[in-house]
Amino acid sequence: MENMKILVVYYSRTGTTKKVAEFLDEAYDFEVEAIEDYVNRSGMLGLLRSTTAAMLRRGARIAEMKRDPRDYDLVVIGTPIWAGTMSTPVRSFLQTYGRQLHSVAFFCTHGDGKAEPLFSEMTSMCGKKPVSVCAIAGREVQSGLFQGRAAAFLHELQHRAARARKRVGSITGAITGYRRHKPDEVIAIARVPAPSPARQTWRTGSKSARGLVLARSRFAEIARKTRRAAQQAQGRRAGYAA
Ligand SMILES: Cc1cc2nc3c(=O)[nH]c(=O)nc-3n(C[C@H](O)[C@H](O)[C@H](O)COP(=O)(O)O)c2cc1C
Repeated sequence: MENMKILVVYYSRTGTTKKVAEFLDEAYDFEVEAIEDYVNRSGMLGLLRSTTAAMLRRGARIAEMKRDPRDYDLVVIGTPIWAGTMSTPVRSFLQTYGRQLHSVAFFCTHGDGKAEPLFSEMTSMCGKKPVSVCAIAGREVQSGLFQGRAAAFLHELQHRAARARKRVGSITGAITGYRRHKPDEVIAIARVPAPSPARQTWRTGSKSARGLVLARSRFAEIARKTRRAAQQAQGRRAGYAA
């Protein structure tokens, strides 16, 4: 995952989800940031307030993030389960950033509730499938037995990152053009003989038609390789150098 910029964001009311985030940070030295809101969630009243807001799928005003999650290749989002869904601050985070994140992974802690409905709601708020998900019971965290599950989650993230790198390698020679979309986002246009495994690979998150594949990515490595390939192949759009 050396080349990927990864941010872990989480909300934790009583520290359980925070412990998982800290484990991820210690294991792989991600950047980590807590999502904070301004609601008093302590005591019975706080519990009631939190349950009601979660059930009604309300958001809450959250503090401005210190880092811009849109700058990261992958954002790993952690939440406790509240009333069968995500915590209110995480809902607000996803309402603000969900659709603008390039790639996501989810983890949650819970008191033995089901995580699938939560993950599917988070997926639809992001408009994209997570590269990996992980659900951990609060009691596993308290007893320290969560680490195996969290390590498997990390392993999956690593595997996906490696696959992403491999895909980049497979298209660089075939790039026929490019378009700069934003300062850090490039759309690569590659001609891929169809049918081919590479074309299959690139279908996810890209438009494809008759062997012409438009692969859009904010992955730094893709952007860099695309730039290099485009510069070598064309050299004609001199103003491109970023
Ligand atoms: C308001 C509220 C609602 C909750 N609802 C559920 C639930 O529906 N299902 C479940 O399994 N756990 C539920 N829990 C338990 C938490 O998901 C669990 O304790 C979690 O690990 C707490 O994480 P935290 O310490 O990071 O806040 C709820 C907890 C709170 C505070």
